Amino acid sequence: MTSEQITAAASGTFRLGDLAVNRIGFGAMRLTQYGQALTPDAVPMERARAITVLRRAVELGVNHIDTAAFYFSSLRSANELINHALAPYPDDLVIATKVGPARDPSGAWLPPAVPGQLRGQVEENLRHLGRDHLDVVNLRVSGPGPIAEYFGALADLRQAGLIRHLGLSGVGPDQLAEAQAIAPVVCVQNSYGIGVRPEQDDFVRACGEQGVAFVPFFAIAAAGREAGASGADSDAVTGIALELGISAAQVRLAWTLHRGPHVLAIPGTGNPDHLVANVAAGALRLSREHLAALDAVHGAPTPRGSRHVVKPPHREGGRPQDADAVR
Ligand SMILES: NC(=O)c1ccc[n+]([C@@H]2O[C@H](COP(=O)([O-])OP(=O)(O)OC[C@H]3O[C@@H](n4cnc5c(N)ncnc54)[C@H](OP(=O)(O)O)[C@@H]3O)[C@@H](O)[C@H]2O)c1
Repeated sequence: MTSEQITAAASGTFRLGDLAVNRIGFGAMRLTQYGQALTPDAVPMERARAITVLRRAVELGVNHIDTAAFYFSSLRSANELINHALAPYPDDLVIATKVGPARDPSGAWLPPAVPGQLRGQVEENLRHLGRDHLDVVNLRVSGPGPIAEYFGALADLRQAGLIRHLGLSGVGPDQLAEAQAIAPVVCVQNSYGIGVRPEQDDFVRACGEQGVAFVPFFAIAAAGREAGASGADSDAVTGIALELGISAAQVRLAWTLHRGPHVLAIPGTGNPDHLVANVAAGALRLSREHLAALDAVHGAPTPRGSRHVVKPPHREGGRPQDADAVR
């Protein structure tokens, strides 16, 4: 079977509440520009290309798309592109969005929303996506500390029927427990991947034990973060890619999916060929030996000057540089 014929169903499924999704999904952050995301001076992507990628993703069986109202460049909005490309939406398509961070119309970061502003952010997503309720809304948290007031505001919107399921992003175990005391949490979306925050391994496992999906971002981009994948990778990753005749990005995605049946993938791309490769990565089964070699890289101390210590200037949500290090 060629990569073009492999669909997202090959990755298996997991439930976000009552919504079953294929484990290989799609992240919309890369669709609105070339190069670094979430920066005001980014070069907008051609509209036709972004729409082609979205429609092809659904053709390939992707039924879980991650987005946000603050995913936009000067000329493109991820939510508007999703609406234009995919509405009327397929019955099985789950669109997950996130609230908390905000950018002004010029693209500059605003202070994160206060609880009273979350309803407006939810309604902004509803308007742009053309929906009357949102399938999954993640509260994007900006650092450590209590989140009850914020999560409680979203739980009220869920009770009011604007949101079907709630998730969290940028959180640790204490914040997950705090939220679960208020309302069910179906997913946690944190940065994670080979060499990306290995200190989170126990938390990833704990989410699975509680039936909570763990949805990593930056699984491919790693330390490139908003700037994107650098093309460079560790010898272990590139060696296994060469041996299996696949790309380093596919090795990275396959490894994250091997972390547990509750781990989903939302690789972001504006490149139709990369989309096909990412969906095909859901069918890969890595050997015990390959997993051991990749686990060793994941947990290894970061060598000085390696790609895993590079910090780009932008942080989603305009958070302080060290916020993600502890989340
Ligand atoms: N909750 C949060 O705070 C948060 C933060 C960041 C992102 N997210 C979400 O998570 C999604 C994933 O994160 P991400 O897009 O930043 O990072 P990612 O999926 O780890 O990697 C994207 C980068 O890798 C490249 N890439 C993708 N597939 C590739 C392939 N098969 N071969 C080679 N390069 C490939 C992309 O460039 P090309 O476009 O050239 O393929 C882009 O530079 C986002 O799209 C967004 O929906 C959430």
